[in-house]
Amino acid sequence: MPKDYYKIDLMPLPYDYTALEPYINTQTMQVHHDRLLKAYVDKLNATLAAYPKLQKLSLEQMLENTYLIPDSARTSVINFGGGVYNHNFFFNSLRPGIAGNIPIGNLGKAIDRKFGSFEEFRKEFKEKALSVFGSGWLWLVKDYKGNLLLEQTANQNSPISLGHIPLIVIDVWEHAYFLQYLNLRNEYIDNWFNVINWNRADEIYNS
Ligand SMILES: [Fe+2]
Repeated sequence: MPKDYYKIDLMPLPYDYTALEPYINTQTMQVHHDRLLKAYVDKLNATLAAYPKLQKLSLEQMLENTYLIPDSARTSVINFGGGVYNHNFFFNSLRPGIAGNIPIGNLGKAIDRKFGSFEEFRKEFKEKALSVFGSGWLWLVKDYKGNLLLEQTANQNSPISLGHIPLIVIDVWEHAYFLQYLNLRNEYIDNWFNVINWNRADEIYNS
């Protein structure tokens, strides 16, 4: 292996495995982080091992500029690299549940302007998250003009490849909820709203 081999690390969870109980249970967090995210990290590193030029780029640089990736590696980097980026973003965008968890600051105001109210936003977000077909994600993003958008991405595709800035995201791959909720994506989404880290989302929105 080359000496300067670029290694993407497995990001530690920013809280304990139990921290999102009862909304996302401990077993789900352990499997999701320790096995599924780790598998994406390992597969991305295995892919990058053969591409020294890509090893010089950050994960974000690769996903934001997918044209820089050689054809022979592009699908693997989008799938495995997207799997790493999306899961890191997802885990970082959560925090222990609090009662009456609502958006704050400038983002809270922008959500009210765009969707009419938080309740309307919540309704629309939930409908779009329920309608993701197969495996994917629903994101709240900011586009290059600063507009808020709800954006579905399939598989491990990421909004940063479209030039959008993610603010919050829900993982609606079945592996994100099946251990706790079986096939009830509906209940998972309702409970996930309790653990969104709106402080972090507002910080990103303002940056
Ligand atoms: Fe996931």
